[in-house]
Amino acid sequence: MSVLVLGVSGSVSVYKACDLASKLVQAGHTVRTVMTHHAAELVSPQLFEALTGEAPFVDEFSEERQGGMDHIELAQAAELFLVAPMTGNLAARLALGIADDLVSTVSLAIAKGTPRLACPAMNPSMLDHPAVQRNLKALVEDGWEVMEPGSGNMACGDEGAGRLPEPAEILARVEELLSR
Ligand SMILES: Cc1cc2nc3c(=O)[nH]c(=O)nc-3n(C[C@H](O)[C@H](O)[C@H](O)COP(=O)(O)O)c2cc1C
Repeated sequence: MSVLVLGVSGSVSVYKACDLASKLVQAGHTVRTVMTHHAAELVSPQLFEALTGEAPFVDEFSEERQGGMDHIELAQAAELFLVAPMTGNLAARLALGIADDLVSTVSLAIAKGTPRLACPAMNPSMLDHPAVQRNLKALVEDGWEVMEPGSGNMACGDEGAGRLPEPAEILARVEELLSR
């Protein structure tokens, strides 16, 4: 059983990340959730706390938090870093090495050799945008595994590729990466 750091960003598919977090815990893993501010606006961190038993990390600079440097402690604890869902915005920041929030800062601090799995989720036109495709390619070149988004009807009414893969598929991929 492993310690997973789950990075969550502000996609409409964040509701599926709740199910994913629950499935990871049911599979016996410890899940430490890190949310972008936009993710925490779409879904209350309290829901992830209820599902994982641990309060998500959102803001390393908040007045309430105590202790050392969250980005380093989380990165060092991670046996696998999973980003699901990954917005187009977060893909750009991770591809460029920008560390302007806790998810992106943890990403930079993750040790070489730790498996990193990203699950992009966005509208088909966004996914098809050259900038997004360029950033996903850069992440793969940097050693990330990027899961292929699913196709179908999107929440916005469009149809095409960009859906977050089903939580069971992501869980299966996580188990494969951990078993290597
Ligand atoms: C309701 C809602 C749903 C959104 N869904 C997505 C999405 O699925 N994928 C995406 O890339 N951006 C989506 N966005 C836009 C992002 O939230 C926006 O780009 C934001 O800056 C992302 O910030 P973050 O990557 O730090 O979470 C959505 C915005 C809203 C308001």
